[in-house]
Amino acid sequence: MSLEDKIGQLNQMDGRRDIEKVKQEVRQGTLSSIMNIVDPVVTDELQRIALEESTSGIPLLFARDVVHGFNTVLPIPLGMAASWDDALIEQAGRNTALEATEKGIRWAFAPMMDIARDPRWGRIAESFGEDTYMAGRLATAVVRGYQGKSLADQTSMAACAKHFVGYGDAEGGRDYNTTFIPPRTLRDVYLPPFKACVDEGCASIMTSFNDNDGLPSTGNHWLLTELLRDQWGFKGLVVSDWGSVAGLIPHGVASDKRDAAQQCIVAGCDMDMSSRSYLLHMKDLIEKGEVDVAVLDNAVRRVLKLKIELGLFENPYARKTQKSDIYSEPVLETACRLAEESVVMLKNDNVLPVSDQAQKILVVGPMADAAYDQMGTWALDGDKTHTITPIAALREMYGDKVEYIQCLTYPRDKSTAEFKRVAKAARKADVVLAFVGEEQMMSGEAHSLSSLDLQGAQAQMLEELAATQTPLVTVFLAGRPMTIARQVEISDAVLYAWHPGTMGGKALANIISGVANPSGKLPVTFPRNVGQIPIYYNNKHTSHKAKGSEGNLDNIPREGRQSVMGHTCSYLDVPPTPLFPFGYGLTYTKFEISDIKVENRSVKADGTLRASVIVKNTGSRKGTEVVQLYTGRKTASVTQPMKELKDFQRVTLSPGETKTVEFEVPISRLAFHNRDMVLAVEEGNYTLTIGSDSQSGLRTYFKILNND
Ligand code: NOJ
Repeated sequence: MSLEDKIGQLNQMDGRRDIEKVKQEVRQGTLSSIMNIVDPVVTDELQRIALEESTSGIPLLFARDVVHGFNTVLPIPLGMAASWDDALIEQAGRNTALEATEKGIRWAFAPMMDIARDPRWGRIAESFGEDTYMAGRLATAVVRGYQGKSLADQTSMAACAKHFVGYGDAEGGRDYNTTFIPPRTLRDVYLPPFKACVDEGCASIMTSFNDNDGLPSTGNHWLLTELLRDQWGFKGLVVSDWGSVAGLIPHGVASDKRDAAQQCIVAGCDMDMSSRSYLLHMKDLIEKGEVDVAVLDNAVRRVLKLKIELGLFENPYARKTQKSDIYSEPVLETACRLAEESVVMLKNDNVLPVSDQAQKILVVGPMADAAYDQMGTWALDGDKTHTITPIAALREMYGDKVEYIQCLTYPRDKSTAEFKRVAKAARKADVVLAFVGEEQMMSGEAHSLSSLDLQGAQAQMLEELAATQTPLVTVFLAGRPMTIARQVEISDAVLYAWHPGTMGGKALANIISGVANPSGKLPVTFPRNVGQIPIYYNNKHTSHKAKGSEGNLDNIPREGRQSVMGHTCSYLDVPPTPLFPFGYGLTYTKFEISDIKVENRSVKADGTLRASVIVKNTGSRKGTEVVQLYTGRKTASVTQPMKELKDFQRVTLSPGETKTVEFEVPISRLAFHNRDMVLAVEEGNYTLTIGSDSQSGLRTYFKILNND
C-alpha cells in the first residue's frame, strides 16, 4: 500500500453529505469507513467504487449508532438494564444486528458502558446505570448479540465499547465536562466493564470526549496503549469519538490539528472519526519523522484486520435476504418482552393491575400518545409510524372503556386550559392512568438538565387528578431518573417505563392489565432531590456513617453547639437515603427469600464462593424475582464500598412454587486495587447479602483465605 492509501484507511467520515463528494473521496482512497448511510443501494454503489475504482481496492466499512435497536427500537439502554435480563438483551441485540446488516451496517457504535451516577447527565439514558458489574455483564451481552458466532457472518456487526473512559462522570452532569476520577476509582469502577468487553472479544473501542485529570482520552498513551493493549492484550481497533482527535485543540493540549494527529496516533488511537486530522497531516508527520511509520502501519493493520474478520473482502455488499427481519414478528415480540421487563413498579396500593370490574378508564397526559418521544435518544432509524403508544394499545385492549384526554400536548406544555375538563372526567372514572415524563429531547448527548422535576404543568395536572380521589396510576416515560417524590406520594400506583421504544405501549398495556407481571428493578438510584446527587448504592464506608434518621429541618434547634444529627455524613434538610434504592422494584405477586446458605464459608482467593437462598412465590400470580447478591468488606487495605453487586439471577415462579437459587461467584470478581495499586483479592471476613434490592436481604458471612 502507498503511504496515501494507508493514511486513507485511518479516516472515517459522515456520509450525510453531497454524495458525489463522498464518491470522489472513496475513489481517491481517502475514506476507510463511512457513517450514517443506511440505504443499501447507496452503500453498495460506494462499495463498488471502493473495490473497483480506488487504488487499493480495499472495501469500505459502514458504521452507525445502533444503540438500542435499529428500525425496531428497543427500550433505552437504561431501561434494558432495568430488566436485569442479559439473555434477553443478547437476543434483542442479535435481532438488532439482523435489521441493521440488512441495510449494510457492519459496525455499531455500541454498547455504551459508562458508569452513570448523575441523572442530570443526559447520556445516562444510553448507559446501563450506576453499577460496574451490571454494566459489564449487560454490555458483554450486547457484544455477543451484535457480533454473533462469528464476525464473518453477514448478519454480524462489529461492536464498539464506548466511551473509553470516564465520560459518565462529567462534573455537574454537564455533558462533555471534565472528569476527576482518581486512579483507583478509575480502575475499580470505570474500567472493568471495558475489560469485560475486551475479554468477550469486542472488536473495537471508542475513546471518550472528556479529559480526566488533565488528559483527554483520545491522546492518552497510558490508557490506549499501556493499559488497553499492553496490559489487557486488546487486539482490536480504537476509534476516536466524533472530532475528538481535533478535540485536543479546544481542550488546550494541542496547538493545531497536526499536533493533535501526532499525539493521538502515538497514543494509540487508530482511526480518526470525522476530524480529518490524520488525513491532512499524517503524511507530513511521517515524512518529517515525527510519527514512526511502524506506528502508522500498526494502526492500519488493525483497521484491515477488522475488515478481514468481518469478511468484507469476500462479502463486501449489504446482505440480501428473501425475508426481511425488519419489523418482523419475532423481532417485535422480543422488543415487547424487553419493554415489559424494563418497567419498574415503584408503588402499588392495590390499584394495579386494573380490575376487570373497571368500566371507565381515563387516560391522560402528554406521554400517552407520544410516538416519537417514547423511542428515546439515539433512535436514528426508528420510525414513529411504527410505534405502539400506550393509548393505542389500551384502546385495543379495553375498547370503549377508555376515555382519552391528552390535557397537555407535550411534557413542557404549561397550559392549564384542560384541567377542569380532565378533573371532571376523572371523577366519573374508575381509574385514571396518567402518562407523564420527558420528551425525547430532554436526554441524550448534549442534553443535560439541572432540574429533574416534571416539566411544564405536569406536576400540577397530577395534583388535580389526585384531588379527585379516583385511583391514580402514574406512568413515567423518561430518559433518566426524575425527582418524583411528590408524585409518588399522591399516586396510588407508579410505573417507571423509561423510554420503552417501538413496543412500549403494548408492553405497558400488558402490565397495566395484568397480562404481564412487572419484574423490572432499578439499575440506578432515585434521588429525593437534585441536591443528593451523586447518590449511589455502593457508597464507601465513611468515618461518620449516617444513621438514616437525619434530614429533618424541624429537628434543628435555633442555637447550640451540639450537632443534633450527631456528626454523620448526611444533610440537614433531606434524609440520607434515596427515594428508591438501586435494585428496587415491585411485582403483582410476593416473594419470600429465606435460608441463606454458604456452602464453603472459607474460600481461597482463587476459589469460587457457593451460596444459595430459597425463593418462594407466596402470592397469587406467576412472577419473576431478580435475586441479587452483594458482598461487602469492612476492613481492607483501602476504603471499600459498603456493598457491591456481584451476581444476580432472574427466577420465575408460579404461585406457591419454591426454588433454591444457587450462586457461584468466582472470588476473583471481588478483587480491587489495593494499597499498592495492585489488583488483588484480600483475605479476611466478608459480608454476603442476598435479597430483592440493594437495601434489604438476608445477610451472612464468609471468609477469604490466602491461596497458600
Ligand atoms: C458522538 C457520540 O459521543 C458517540 O457516542 C457516537 O458514537 C458518535 N458521536 C458517532 O455518532
